[in-house]
Amino acid sequence: MKTVRKGETVMTTRDLMREPLKDFTAYVAGGKQFKFDSGMPVIKLNANENQMGPGPKAMMAMSAELGQGNLYPMETILNLKRKISKHVGFPLECITTFSGSGSGIQAIGEAFLNPDDEMLVCSPTYMAYYILPKRFGAKLVEVEAEDGVSTDLDKIYEAINDKTKLIFICNPNNPTGTLLDPDKLFDFIKKLPEHVITVVDEAYIDWIADDSYPSALKMVEDGRNLIILRTFSKIYGLAGCRVGYAVANAEVTQCLGSIAGFMGPNRIGAAGAAAALEDYEYYNAAKENNTSQRTYLTEEMEKLGITVVPSSASFIYFAPHCDTKECMDYLESRGVFIRYFSEEYIRVSIGLPWQNKQFLNVLTDYLRQYRKIAV
Ligand SMILES: Cc1ncc(COP(=O)(O)O)c(C=O)c1O
Repeated sequence: MKTVRKGETVMTTRDLMREPLKDFTAYVAGGKQFKFDSGMPVIKLNANENQMGPGPKAMMAMSAELGQGNLYPMETILNLKRKISKHVGFPLECITTFSGSGSGIQAIGEAFLNPDDEMLVCSPTYMAYYILPKRFGAKLVEVEAEDGVSTDLDKIYEAINDKTKLIFICNPNNPTGTLLDPDKLFDFIKKLPEHVITVVDEAYIDWIADDSYPSALKMVEDGRNLIILRTFSKIYGLAGCRVGYAVANAEVTQCLGSIAGFMGPNRIGAAGAAAALEDYEYYNAAKENNTSQRTYLTEEMEKLGITVVPSSASFIYFAPHCDTKECMDYLESRGVFIRYFSEEYIRVSIGLPWQNKQFLNVLTDYLRQYRKIAV
């Protein structure tokens, strides 16, 4: 560890970091660093990636864009924003693009969180929210989910006070896959005080089986501090290309825009995302695979005596009623990577049929040995 001198004091380089960040460790998608060193084929169901790969239209557009990699991406991003604008039905001045919605989350914190502000979440929810307030010296306030899994809007509302600056709501929620009653969500948004900025993270909205389920986009309007976050990492299969966006009224968008300049997508990702938005065949195939495999996995896991939280997303949160850490380690030793959450729950991302089958086979082997179940 390098030591540095400041006058008489000897310190480490880490001591030079901003105060709230000194004990930070890196965020790793999927929960832990992924090791491929066993030489075994790996089934990666730990980070909610789309196992179909990028769609053909996105791949063609990205290949075509490579030759312009020497040029800054402004006009490619503008083209993407135009496509997003058409897709969501809001003008360009309501859209901010990011290098993944993860950067959008950072940008929101940077734009709005002062030290001593409070940020509210309903736990368990997406890991990246938890590190945000700490980054800015703000305070995280957690309320508990109903039955440990469903976002509790009443509890969130009760926890609002004069210091509350941000509320993050993930719908469908990661990691539990639960979906809010849209009327309840919209009523909640309507009654929020003006000093609060609410973020509805719709990273998984496209996986909801019911196509008539309304997005919270319809609540975006002038004078309302509401931000809807979306990503190309999930149904559009572009997690590695890093493209996400926010939709908000023009005033909120200007606030985000004033700090988001260096957080935008690159030219290749932006070109891929623009093409992906118009690849309906790929989108429908991804949705169809996810919906049918979600039903299949849910039914098969329930046959194994597992408690499965009904999911509206591209993953399943489940309680196998055994040592979850040991269970996860066993799966990993057999090349199947899933995500640990607690002594009770783990999460598996929905993959391709053969991957899901293999996950079930290995899980069944483990439960047979551990719980001596007759399957
Ligand atoms: C709820 C939620 N929001 C945002 C993200 C970030 O996605 P990305 O930065 O890839 O757009 C994720 C990633 O898994 C997520 O689960």
